[in-house]
Amino acid sequence: MADLEGLKVAKDYHVDTPFANQDGFFLKGANSLDWGMKRHLSNIFNPKSGNTVMFAFDHGYFMGSTSGLERLDLLLPKLAPYVDCFMGTRGAIRTCVPPHLTNAVALRVSSGSSMLQDDLSHEVVAVDIEDSIRMNADCMAVQTFIGADGQLSSLDNLNRVINAGMRYSIPTLGVCAVGKDMARTDKFFKLATRIIAEMGCQIVKTYDCENFEEVVAACPVPIVVAGGKKLSEPDALKLAYGVMQKGARGVDMGRNIFQSTHPVEMAQAVNKIVHEGYTDKEAYEFFQDMIHS
Ligand code: 5RP
Repeated sequence: MADLEGLKVAKDYHVDTPFANQDGFFLKGANSLDWGMKRHLSNIFNPKSGNTVMFAFDHGYFMGSTSGLERLDLLLPKLAPYVDCFMGTRGAIRTCVPPHLTNAVALRVSSGSSMLQDDLSHEVVAVDIEDSIRMNADCMAVQTFIGADGQLSSLDNLNRVINAGMRYSIPTLGVCAVGKDMARTDKFFKLATRIIAEMGCQIVKTYDCENFEEVVAACPVPIVVAGGKKLSEPDALKLAYGVMQKGARGVDMGRNIFQSTHPVEMAQAVNKIVHEGYTDKEAYEFFQDMIHS
């Protein structure tokens, strides 16, 4: 292991210089992947904009029934036209997503904790690769706890899933979790997202933070950003616009859509930012027009 003494702090992120190794395919870090991987990634990320609106509704895997997600069977078909990808558990997707909907699927494959515990950082790989294939998953999502108690096992989970995904050309989405003792600083996110990407996953999910453009620049695969706790609609749209401006390739938004007073209109407004370049103000005006029409 490298000697940590005298370690220099990374600082040359060249945030204005595009990713260099990108001839031939529209997504960062995917050049050397095979056809199947690229096809799955193209299902998740719109090849025209290069971006994605993922709708995260996997909260039940550790929270049970959550406000706004009580009736997935009613909600998901309504949101389907406005989101590129559904991110959920196999239980929720098999039971509540009609198979004729062609949205991409980000399948949550790690689990093992519940909100009744103090430390959520211990998970296992719960869904095997055969079931991911049966579900036609476009990527497999693994919770990864860098710096937390469960770091070793979550990196082990991540690597097992990446290895299986490489065998069958299914991308892995590394979800950067913030352990209970971790602060949401750029220092933490730079460390954690880079470790997750270096394990070999094809997409990283993380949170907005100070100097987010440096987190993006130092991560060699596309980053999608979680919405996090419920904000007002203008603030949630501002978050989406801000991270897209700083280089995210999309959002993986849950509560800020499903706990909105108007989830469908909110998904549409987010879609305008992610795919059509609307500013947050334009998207909020659009949201207001939609809810009053
Ligand atoms: C849980 C997750 C969630 O999918 C994620 O937090 C997105 O939902 P929200 O926008 O509500 O934060 O990965 O670990």
